[in-house]
Amino acid sequence: MGKHIGVFDSGIGGLSVLTEIYRKAPELTFSYIADTAFNPYGNKTEKQIIQRSHYLTQQLLKKGVDLIVVACNTATAFAIDDLRKHYQIPIVAMEPAIKPAAEQSQTGKVMIMATTMTLSSDRYYHLLERFAEQSQFIHQACPGLVEIVENMEVVKPEAKQLIHQYVLPALENNIDSIVLGCTHYPFLKDIIRELVGDHISIIETSEAVSRQVVKKLETITTVKKPDERLPEHKFYTTGSLEHFKSQVAYYWINPISKVIIKALKESSTSKH
Ligand code: DGL
Repeated sequence: MGKHIGVFDSGIGGLSVLTEIYRKAPELTFSYIADTAFNPYGNKTEKQIIQRSHYLTQQLLKKGVDLIVVACNTATAFAIDDLRKHYQIPIVAMEPAIKPAAEQSQTGKVMIMATTMTLSSDRYYHLLERFAEQSQFIHQACPGLVEIVENMEVVKPEAKQLIHQYVLPALENNIDSIVLGCTHYPFLKDIIRELVGDHISIIETSEAVSRQVVKKLETITTVKKPDERLPEHKFYTTGSLEHFKSQVAYYWINPISKVIIKALKESSTSKH
């Protein structure tokens, strides 16, 4: 077994990030935790999001991972500083791709789709401040979209209806870029593309994050002996195992790999 990464999200959204990591480094073993019992994070309190992020990080550490990916913009917005303070392990995190969007926008108008909590965070505000002179940002909270992805309803008319409701007003504002600031939203990208056409850029962070993961892993030397065994792909949920099995079958790109799907048993953690 080669290097082992731990990835978590409030649900299945982090698979959009894991897919990019897997494309770049199929040899990696990974443990993915979907915190389904607490999904969505977008309507939780700051305290809850921080507590859950500590809990999930500790669970991944127990599994012996070499690096952790916080595949969730909302968890990153509230917990990343605290996590990096508490744990020695390298942690790669998500952030809405405001910088690349601001740099490439021609009209100077950029729409950001994210959870209500991400948009209300100080971290997001400070990120925006850095590019405020260069661009005008239209912030769109998108309640309901995470649930649509979690329920595997991305092809249902309701998904289209909600996307139209959120995106159409910004289109009238002459935007030329849309930032997907939540890891669930890439699963809705086709619907967004169909609505906005080809002249608008839809920007996500997964590719950049996966590059960062690969780069960071190169600097980590593990004590484990390399062996011939296939990498293991382990998926855990804090919610219903049956539902999670269908989600992994629906969204995970590599059904032929050795996949282990389990319920994560709640256990106590240190206080946070
Ligand atoms: N996928 C997460 C994010 O990137 C969390 C969404 C949610 O649970 O509300 O923000």
